[in-house]
Amino acid sequence: MSKNIKKIAVITSGGDSPGMNAAIRAVVRAATYYNLKCVGYYRGYQGIIENDFIELNSRSVKNIINKGGTILKSARSEGFRTVPGRKIAYENLRKEYIDSLILIGGDGTFRGGAIFSKEYDINIIGIPGTIDNDIFGTQFTIGFDTALNTVIEAVDKIRDTASSHNRLFFIEVMGRDSGFIALNSGVGVGAQEILIPEEDQPLDKLIESLNRSKQNGKSSSIVIVAEGDKTGKNVFELATYIKEHMKDYSPRVTVLGHLQRGGSPTCFDRVLASRLGVKAVEILLGGNNNVMVGIRNNQIVSTPIIDILNCESSINKELLRISKILSI
Ligand code: F6P
Repeated sequence: MSKNIKKIAVITSGGDSPGMNAAIRAVVRAATYYNLKCVGYYRGYQGIIENDFIELNSRSVKNIINKGGTILKSARSEGFRTVPGRKIAYENLRKEYIDSLILIGGDGTFRGGAIFSKEYDINIIGIPGTIDNDIFGTQFTIGFDTALNTVIEAVDKIRDTASSHNRLFFIEVMGRDSGFIALNSGVGVGAQEILIPEEDQPLDKLIESLNRSKQNGKSSSIVIVAEGDKTGKNVFELATYIKEHMKDYSPRVTVLGHLQRGGSPTCFDRVLASRLGVKAVEILLGGNNNVMVGIRNNQIVSTPIIDILNCESSINKELLRISKILSI
């Protein structure tokens, strides 16, 4: 059943992530392929309210597949949180005869889209774009793989100096309230300990593990700390705590911060973004909407946005288990 789709708008919203441009490119190229018009609004929902958009065709998205960030920029929109703001947004879309909106972003973006599509007759499709990988309905979000590779490249450099000075490093990584980046990068760099919000890690266990690694002859260690970790101490306080309780350690701290959000997307993220972008357009043409596209067992799937908003993606318990074995 094909809905009478004529014109699609695409936005990027929330924290940017490497691969968003590849997703924009795929949406625009698929729309062109299926003879649909496509526009991009700048700065997420705020651009729709301000009617700040650009007509997009297959040439508009050339040479961006390899670029980090988003050509459509991103922003948070207080206005879109209000009924009058959403009304202005709807009227602007109507003026341009836009019937569908493809949202590249995280669950906050989809929450706004779900409210909007309840109030107005606009088709909504979500594409998961965030480095956090914390979205239900997909095994991987666009940007996660690139962020992981950025983290391990940085931590490998830190390991050089840690082993040269027999030092302990606490390295904070992003992930908002989730530990996906911390757990996967921690295993990838061979961290001694990985502190994530999904696991209650008492500090005495951390001391035990560091003492054990010393007894096993380790002269330097890396501890990866998720920014949303729940030890009750931030990464600097953790280092001070260890210094106070383990006299022969002089821990150092590195906060990787926003560099995890940048960089040229990996091939994995480019291919994921391309597959999800095309699928998003084809789902609209198939007459469906209010779903988010995702990947599971290498198959592109779609999940109702209401389920995305009501369910949580869970950490890989098997990976957590082997991380303890590998840090012996
Ligand atoms: O959601 C992506 C993310 O990078 C989180 O990992 C991080 O906590 C947050 O955005 C930072 O937000 P901002 O860019 O507004 O400082």
